[in-house]
Amino acid sequence: MEYWKLVWVFVLAFLFGGYQSEGCWEIEKAALLQLKPFFPHINDEGISWGKGNCCRWNGVECSTSTGRVTRLFLEYRSVEVYNNISQGWYLNISLFLPFHELNSLDLGNSYIAGFIDNHSFMNKLEILDLSNNKLLGNNILPYLAEFTSLKTLLLDNCGLEGSIDISGKKRQLRLAKLEVLDLSFNYFNNSIFSSLAALPHLKSLNLECNLLIQSTYIQGKGTKVDESRRA
Ligand SMILES: *[C@@H]1O[C@H](CO)[C@@H](O)[C@H](O)[C@H]1NC(C)=O
Ligand SMILES: *[C@@H]1O[C@H](CO)[C@@H](O)[C@H](O)[C@H]1NC(C)=O
Ligand SMILES: *[C@@H]1O[C@H](CO)[C@@H](O)[C@H](O)[C@H]1NC(C)=O
Ligand SMILES: *[C@@H]1O[C@H](CO)[C@@H](O)[C@H](O)[C@H]1NC(C)=O
Repeated sequence: MEYWKLVWVFVLAFLFGGYQSEGCWEIEKAALLQLKPFFPHINDEGISWGKGNCCRWNGVECSTSTGRVTRLFLEYRSVEVYNNISQGWYLNISLFLPFHELNSLDLGNSYIAGFIDNHSFMNKLEILDLSNNKLLGNNILPYLAEFTSLKTLLLDNCGLEGSIDISGKKRQLRLAKLEVLDLSFNYFNNSIFSSLAALPHLKSLNLECNLLIQSTYIQGKGTKVDESRRA
């Protein structure tokens, strides 16, 4: 008897709760529509952002069990707009707060020059792809410390320079779970190595095409360091 009562509770929660019959959470659908104007090419292919199940929209993936958004692929995927927005733009990172189960966020090739609004605690985010946002530069660094659950961080061709303190000296080891880090095609010099030493779980590191002084191949603890002088 108790068992059937429980089943009914679930059925009713399912029907009248936030979980839409369409298989997409209303709050997440609204959040996607808020993001849409910033990614004008999102509707170029696939199912356009507007009506119906948002889990089927172009660049959106949801969990099959909870129906919540787990992956967002928001690249511009277009080169033509580059000249028009050569100044870049600032992304309000709070727009992602409704996505409680967001695991992977792809913002590559989007001409982002920085983030605004730093109250971004995305504690499920494991993969962040910011590749080829050349205008980002070191603006991004203070924000990275917020993404404490990251395992994969792609910052290739992001205009980063000098040395970075990716682990955050003041906020010790905020990126402590990082396993894959791509810093290729930036302007890092040899000081980068001291900050990387503080990433205990790093398994893969790409430093190809930076301003490193000499080419070396370092092996140990399964850490592969791939570096070469920028041509
Ligand atoms: C480029 O910018 C101009 C002025 O800001 C605007 O009128 C035009 O629609 C933009 N073109 C594209 C393709 O976005
Ligand atoms: C960023 O987005 C959030 C959520 O929509 C909003 O409350 C906030 O005012 C925005 N911040 C800025 C600086 O636009
Ligand atoms: C985050 O916001 C607080 C208060 O609004 C501000 O003091 C701090 O400098 C901001 N940090 C970044 C990285 O923008
Ligand atoms: C690396 O660059 C930073 C800032 O541009 C500079 O302060 C530092 O001395 C450089 N380190 C090396 C080893 O060249």
